[in-house]
Amino acid sequence: MPSAAASEKGSESGPPQGSFCFRCIGCGSVTHLAAQDFRCAQCGNLLEITDPAWKSLDAATLKSVWRDRRASNAMLDRSGVWRFRELLPAPATEQQVVTLREGNTPLYELPQASRTTGVPRLYAKHQGLNPTGSFKDTGMTVAATFARQAGYRWVACASTGNTSASMAAYAARGGMRSLVLVPDGKISWSKLSQALDYGALTCQLRTDFDGCLRLLQELVRRAPVYQLNSINPFRLEGQKTLALELMEQLDWQVPDHVIVPGGNLGNSSAIGKALLEMREIGLMARLPKLSIIQAEGANALVRTLRETGGKRLVSVQAETRATAIRIGNPASWEKAVKVLQATDGACEQVSELEIAQAKAEIGAEGIGCEPASAVTLAGLKKLLHLGFVKREESVVLILTGNLLKDPDFTMDFHRGSLFQGTAHEGGSTELKPFRHPPVVLDATLDAVIQALDQAEKSDRTHSNA
Ligand code: F0G
Repeated sequence: MPSAAASEKGSESGPPQGSFCFRCIGCGSVTHLAAQDFRCAQCGNLLEITDPAWKSLDAATLKSVWRDRRASNAMLDRSGVWRFRELLPAPATEQQVVTLREGNTPLYELPQASRTTGVPRLYAKHQGLNPTGSFKDTGMTVAATFARQAGYRWVACASTGNTSASMAAYAARGGMRSLVLVPDGKISWSKLSQALDYGALTCQLRTDFDGCLRLLQELVRRAPVYQLNSINPFRLEGQKTLALELMEQLDWQVPDHVIVPGGNLGNSSAIGKALLEMREIGLMARLPKLSIIQAEGANALVRTLRETGGKRLVSVQAETRATAIRIGNPASWEKAVKVLQATDGACEQVSELEIAQAKAEIGAEGIGCEPASAVTLAGLKKLLHLGFVKREESVVLILTGNLLKDPDFTMDFHRGSLFQGTAHEGGSTELKPFRHPPVVLDATLDAVIQALDQAEKSDRTHSNA
């Protein structure tokens, strides 16, 4: 059994060093200590971090301090998360910070998708360009910092792959051991291989993500391991910086829509929290609409809103090739419902075929992403169709993971085998124009020139179509 190095901290996550506190999202009770399961001792709901000092920050000063730090080489300023530290819980000392210089991700135009959707002001914030290839790093730097500060030897998470890769990396950097619980056979090899390389104790459990998370919740009550799932509110504080950085990149011009994938619903909750805090401080005058998109086969939030008006979670047995969001019992659903309500956002679902096409389209922009991220472009098309997004409005898609995170999906798609033997097989012929399968040739000049000619011909056919 793992043991906590600083046993005097007991089962608490350690006293906060700044003035921040934990507030229950259900009953609103405020505490300075959180139990290991990060649930309210009064009502059992999730906690969020807040700091009364944030309200009195001056917007103009913050903007100028954050901009100036971009020219600094100091460790904390090089991190695209800690650069915004005025809106983060403060660790005891700067030396405590575990960072891989996360954040600082680009905001791209999407010229081809702009043309096909008819939305000229369409952007993608690519969180897949973080150190371990996903948005998880922005939250992990904060949560790993507080885990180390509290003296934990072991950190742990349940994961569909990206959290485990990120946690294992930050644990390694922070001198901690990491325990990973992943569903056997249902995460991509590239994510699993990251956890192995970063030295995690990796357990492939014969269950799904929801089963892994349930087990982890029991484990943290029994063993002194620090849980780094997005139930951990420190994670969400770090993930808030995505929205701060985005606004800075847009010169503080508020976009009309931000569209994000929804799995366990931590990220949408974090972005929404940041938007509300920014408005309160005066960093932005109005809120963008934050919309959450799920895969049809993992649509717990969509069903929760449609069937109960957001009052009670409708769990589903999740199934999708976008394995990062193969989640049926999202932990942060209540936080996400509040965010949708506060920002007037929409929640939609997209099919496996729509996800595959959108992923290929983002790839064709020269940036690429993993399948779970592509739900954003697929979702945008749906929201345009529904009239929720207007073509003259500005839209930011949040791409959450790197193209290289799921090479099997990409290879199967281009070879035409992604939907073989599934219910989607018939419809998948429509995706043919988006496929670029490799061609195996004799090593002769003639063969390569012939391949070039053929590619030219097919390009011309498609551009005339
Ligand atoms: N996109 C990617 C690439 C993800 O890895 C995840 C979640 C999401 C979107 C959904 O974000 O859960 O905050 O709503 N991946 C988690 C994991 C669950 O274990 O890596 P969410």
